[in-house]
Amino acid sequence: MSVLKRIFAVVLILSMCSAFAACGSTDEATPSSEPSKSSDAASPSNSDNKDKKPIYVGFVQVGAESDWRMANTKSMQQTFSEANGYKFEMVDCQQKTDKQITAIRDFIQKGVDYIVLAPNTEAGWETVLGEAKDAGIPVIIVDRMIKTSDESLFTAWVGSNFKKEGEDAVTALENALKEKGVAADKPLNIVTLQGTMGSSAQIGRTDGFAEKMKAHSNWKLLDKQSGDFTQEKGQEVMESFLKSYKDINVVIAENDNMAFGAVKAIKAAGKTCGPKGDITIISFDAVNAAFKAMIAGDIDVDVECNPLHGPRVEEIIKALESGQKVDKIAYVKEGTFYAKDAASTISSRAY
Ligand code: AHR
Repeated sequence: MSVLKRIFAVVLILSMCSAFAACGSTDEATPSSEPSKSSDAASPSNSDNKDKKPIYVGFVQVGAESDWRMANTKSMQQTFSEANGYKFEMVDCQQKTDKQITAIRDFIQKGVDYIVLAPNTEAGWETVLGEAKDAGIPVIIVDRMIKTSDESLFTAWVGSNFKKEGEDAVTALENALKEKGVAADKPLNIVTLQGTMGSSAQIGRTDGFAEKMKAHSNWKLLDKQSGDFTQEKGQEVMESFLKSYKDINVVIAENDNMAFGAVKAIKAAGKTCGPKGDITIISFDAVNAAFKAMIAGDIDVDVECNPLHGPRVEEIIKALESGQKVDKIAYVKEGTFYAKDAASTISSRAY
């Protein structure tokens, strides 16, 4: 072999060696770039917490359809922060029950410590919650409820009594009419903007209102249709109601965002609403923007639905962590707010 060839061979061998060495370091770098317990423990800021493993919470959220939902998400995010000792992951399921089922399966795969589920609709949970149960992951249901004959599929539920909210809306309407000086026996035409069909918020509010309104033989439910808890769809449905019926006296909006849409449609149709208007509006949620709408004179009454579930869910998790028993079902206390009191109450509202 010539000297030149020998030099070339040595250079080739050396460059191959360095290439293998580089491959080796890349392989090692890949896993350490992902969050791992050892790298977390090694970082000085986490060294104090090295004995306290964060509690891994997977939150299966309905979506981002309303002001209420945004307040609910914020409450969960603020509660389950890293500083509070949690690893928190949320999936926004865009108001799709099938996306929620997929999200639960992903959380099972990831081996979360708890699954928190805000179910979009009531039906269809048995199989996937059975899978969570088999994996030994406690499921805490929040806000809306599921329909099941097997209560062992979830550990606890905390949320609103939607049927009571529907009944309270009847009392709210009775009082609003009194306030307006409408005779109790005057014939009344009502339309309802329903929430997401099959959700317990929709079912409870629709049923609660329908049952309690039976006491008023002069109240007539002209029509009901879903606006899917969004302002846009609420407005669309209200526009079509206004085209179909010339004599609407009352709108029951099963959430504030649909009420905002209804107000827009009513005004665009040249009609008036609120305590001094032609059409009485009863809404649900009582979010900050609804207080503003009551102050502006657009909405008559708001039946509260409280979204601040983060601390309530945390209380359940803390109790379970320390081996205590928790209430299977816990209802949140809620009130009713009238337009005349909105200005003096708004500053005390937390959402
Ligand atoms: O389940 C609670 C309901 O869901 C709220 O009334 C509504 O605003 C939300 O989208």
